[in-house]
Amino acid sequence: MLLPSLLGFLLQTTILFHKTKADSDAQSLYGTWSSKSNQVFTGPGFYDPVDELLIEPSLPGISYSFTEDGWFEEATYQVSGNPKDPTCPMASLIYQHGKYEILSNGTLILHPIEVDGRQLFSDPCNDDGISTYTRYNQTETFHSFSVQIDSYHGVWSLQLYQFDQSPMQPLYLAYKPPMMLPTETLNPTDTSNTVENTGTVDGASETGSLQKRSLRSMVKRSLENRHKTSARKIQKGFWSSSIFWYIASGMLGLGSILFLMA
Ligand SMILES: *[C@@H]1O[C@H](CO)[C@@H](O)[C@H](O)[C@H]1NC(C)=O
Ligand SMILES: *[C@@H]1O[C@H](CO)[C@@H](O)[C@H](O)[C@H]1NC(C)=O
Repeated sequence: MLLPSLLGFLLQTTILFHKTKADSDAQSLYGTWSSKSNQVFTGPGFYDPVDELLIEPSLPGISYSFTEDGWFEEATYQVSGNPKDPTCPMASLIYQHGKYEILSNGTLILHPIEVDGRQLFSDPCNDDGISTYTRYNQTETFHSFSVQIDSYHGVWSLQLYQFDQSPMQPLYLAYKPPMMLPTETLNPTDTSNTVENTGTVDGASETGSLQKRSLRSMVKRSLENRHKTSARKIQKGFWSSSIFWYIASGMLGLGSILFLMA
């Protein structure tokens, strides 16, 4: 019985080490992070900068990517209830990318490239089905962040704290290397008339310089654009594998129960 207890002790020590180890430096940010729905990811599946398309994911969520050399990318798809009519939720898709900096006190600041950010906003009961497509430029400041193994989901998680120190929904590592669009200015022109356009569900006609696109063509495009990338999807790790839990629970006995309760 000595060997199993020894292994159990080692496993437990490893778990506790990983569980308590929280990093907050640029290297720990490296990768693509996505909220629990695991449907929203930065990269070409969310925004097509050539054809100016934001592509609606199947579920709401947020995603951030970070490189090791100071670039970030952000993709958010948020749906908010309409207090007047619950059947009319408002939805917004936002894309931004640019440089990030980590201050010596741990504050993380995202500086977007001003001309590249985009927002698609839809308020179906008030906009006649025509979503508003605009430039978006919002510097984001996070009081702090930490990266650690999430002992429940068995994956790396990123916790961002907003400026008022309230925690955001946790993000989980989805790709490493990250899935991102090129880290350079994608739309160098500053003329806004090609950008302040609208998209419509029905793909109606063009009005002046306003371009309208059907949602269906947006989705089709997104599939066509899912070309190769260096990003690597994170597989279910050792930490979440059933074999691991089988061994751990078998060997740790009471110890593992205490660990799970902790
Ligand atoms: C870090 O410094 C910046 C700039 O001085 C400040 O705005 C921010 O609140 C500080 N963050 C923390 C965690 O103290
Ligand atoms: C983008 O935001 C920054 C900071 O809020 C502001 O200084 C800048 O003028 C904005 N640029 C554009 C093009 O709106």
